Amino acid sequence: MAALRTISSLPATASRSLLRSQSTATPLARSAAAACLQVQQRRDDSSLASSKPTTAIPSWGYYKSKKTEGSNKVFGYFMVGSMGALSAAAAKATVQDFLVNMSASADVLAMAKVEVALSSIPEGKNVIIKWRGKPVFIRHRTSDEIDEANNVTISSLRDPQADEDRVKKPEWLVMVGVCTHLGCVPIGEAGDYGGWFCPCHGSHYDISGRIRKGPAPLNLEIPEYDFPTDDTLIIG
Ligand code: FES
Repeated sequence: MAALRTISSLPATASRSLLRSQSTATPLARSAAAACLQVQQRRDDSSLASSKPTTAIPSWGYYKSKKTEGSNKVFGYFMVGSMGALSAAAAKATVQDFLVNMSASADVLAMAKVEVALSSIPEGKNVIIKWRGKPVFIRHRTSDEIDEANNVTISSLRDPQADEDRVKKPEWLVMVGVCTHLGCVPIGEAGDYGGWFCPCHGSHYDISGRIRKGPAPLNLEIPEYDFPTDDTLIIG
């Protein structure tokens, strides 16, 4: 074995000649010499293979489609179309889920509209209800108040607006009860014009909710509302 280790560690040419000379000695030495020669032969083959040029372009024929160009195109169009349809369906589902998630829930929608029975509000009286977190003034106006609201020179107003543009029915005035100056809640049946008065900085609104005096720049806001029946008011 020591002789075999020595032979395998020799350079290629020296080991070959030594092995040939020793291969005539004993059967064990001959078989060891044959094994060493095989090992040496593999080394030579691998060194020859690594010395081949690497710029040769390999053949891709194995991977080439065996079908015709037309059928390949049809398959390609089918795949592109299918992926497009799937992507569009996924995008639609995502957007739809997002919108459903972001839209108001049923209880919030229920609060978005408030129904008021008008028969419970006597003529000449105010009612304040809460709608979307804000106070809303509902006034059942008398005929005198309606006349007073109409007998105003519109051009003299800070925020010019005719009374008929602020009401759907002259006897019902519906307004958001938030002062347009800095957001206080005005007091009803008060002020110099018999309408509403904001005590925070002294704004006076008339019987149509229009600003007549004080720092507020605009008339009281009119919300969305409707009268589905003669006796019912829906705000929102
Ligand atoms: S908040 Fe009403 S007058 Fe200033």
